[in-house]
Amino acid sequence: MKKHAPRLSEQSHDIQGMLKSGFGSLTTSRFRLLTIRNAKLARAWLAALLDTGLIVSAEQVGRPKQAKKEKEKKEKKHVDSVVAIGFTYSGLLELGCRETSEHPFPTPFRSGMGSELRAKLLRDEYRQWSWTDREGPGGGEVVHILLAEWRGRGVVSRLPPINSGAFSVIEAGEDSDFFDGDGKLSEPFGFRDGLAQPVIRGLRDQDGESLAQARADAAGFYDDRLVEPGEFILGYRNEYDELTFCPDVQGWAGASGRFTQNGSYLAVRQFEQDVAAFKAFEAAHSDFETANGVSAGEKLMGRRKNGLPLSWKGDTSVPVSDSAADAFRYRVEDADGFMCPKGAHVRRSNPRDSLGIDVQSSIKSSKLHRLLRRGRPYREASGRQGIFFIACNADLERQFEFIHQRWLQNRRFGTLESQDDPIVGSQPCPKAFTIPGQASGSEVSLQHFTQTLGGGYFFLPGIAALKFIAENRGSAKSGSTHLNIVAG
Ligand code: HEM
Repeated sequence: MKKHAPRLSEQSHDIQGMLKSGFGSLTTSRFRLLTIRNAKLARAWLAALLDTGLIVSAEQVGRPKQAKKEKEKKEKKHVDSVVAIGFTYSGLLELGCRETSEHPFPTPFRSGMGSELRAKLLRDEYRQWSWTDREGPGGGEVVHILLAEWRGRGVVSRLPPINSGAFSVIEAGEDSDFFDGDGKLSEPFGFRDGLAQPVIRGLRDQDGESLAQARADAAGFYDDRLVEPGEFILGYRNEYDELTFCPDVQGWAGASGRFTQNGSYLAVRQFEQDVAAFKAFEAAHSDFETANGVSAGEKLMGRRKNGLPLSWKGDTSVPVSDSAADAFRYRVEDADGFMCPKGAHVRRSNPRDSLGIDVQSSIKSSKLHRLLRRGRPYREASGRQGIFFIACNADLERQFEFIHQRWLQNRRFGTLESQDDPIVGSQPCPKAFTIPGQASGSEVSLQHFTQTLGGGYFFLPGIAALKFIAENRGSAKSGSTHLNIVAG
């Protein structure tokens, strides 16, 4: 007999808001990485944070469906400051949360992005990272908590003071000026970002757009983006029509199933972007832009800077909605990559309808490898800038790691040989990139435009589970936890 998933609509009070919204109206973001120095003080701080109400639920964000819920509508309007919090495996142990032997955490999360095997799989040079989620050969800081904060412009932070006795802190980026006057976000190379997002069935972010409008704008391609909730939220049906596995921790007796129910895994990477090098590349190929009306940089990314797909047939100077800008496929319109090259960043990271034997089966397969991207750009006082990348997913191996290893870092991708992703590929330089359809040679030579500064896997708990962590007296003693982390 088929096991029933809990009803998503009845659980949205327990799901952290970032799984529903990217908080596009909150234009200031700040990401901090905390290492616990004293577990008791850390728990007290977490309890104080929960009391502030800054950790909003999915129920509290976005527009309510019916106007009759006037009171609710009012409450939702006043969300001008939001915090989300996630924990590495060692962070959970520090806070006394031990997995049960019947329902353990999956290997990638337990071992950490900074483990030798994961680094090999992801082709990471993690020895140079300044932080990660476990002890490694490079001696980078072992991080326990990711603290993400989004605020409206000019809104003062209401976070409880982060006591240095409880934590040491790495500031991993704050910025507010990556949004233009229309509230659209662009990353440091100048591309609009955060457009192509899966829509979680039953948890759609209605911010600024009705369902009817979104469907109309997507011109029949809306369902391409519609993905089952179990791909992003633990405990629900996924694209295999199976309930996502929920690990559990000792002592948990919550109302909503196991400890990890309503949570998600976050694959986090702090990137530095070499904006000068990217601009120099574009300048060196300015004749390409003159001849084609699309810059060489746009060919690498696979989108126009203003977010329009490279296959856009209308006027490219007229702004369109995100739903319209994300309504495209490759197989029929652009099979040979004359518009969006087959090796471009967006085509590798989501091949859409070009994976399998036909359009429908390809779209079905691509839904097994989607990411909900919640990162933001940052710029430091030193001038260093980049993306603080956060990808939410329910299965780190099948989603983040698969995309990274098999598509982005793969040097034999489809018919392409000896070239990886032009934006994040780690292959030694100079690298090649094929732009099909060019009369005078189709390959350009590239250098590295981005560098990974650190990264880790975090678990984003549901709100009841956060309360449990704050109250948990667990068996771990502050600062002296013996970590039993597997090697793989
Ligand atoms: C500094 C590093 C990176 C930069 C500058 C970058 C930039 C971009 C840009 C400009 C877009 C197009 C805008 C959009 O579709 O919303 C995009 C899309 C995307 N990126 Fe990245 N990205 C980076 C790293 C990564 C990594 C590490 C991954 C995954 C492991 C990734 C996965 C994706 C995905 C899944 C999409 C959506 C593609 C689609 O559905 O069409 N990106 N990225």
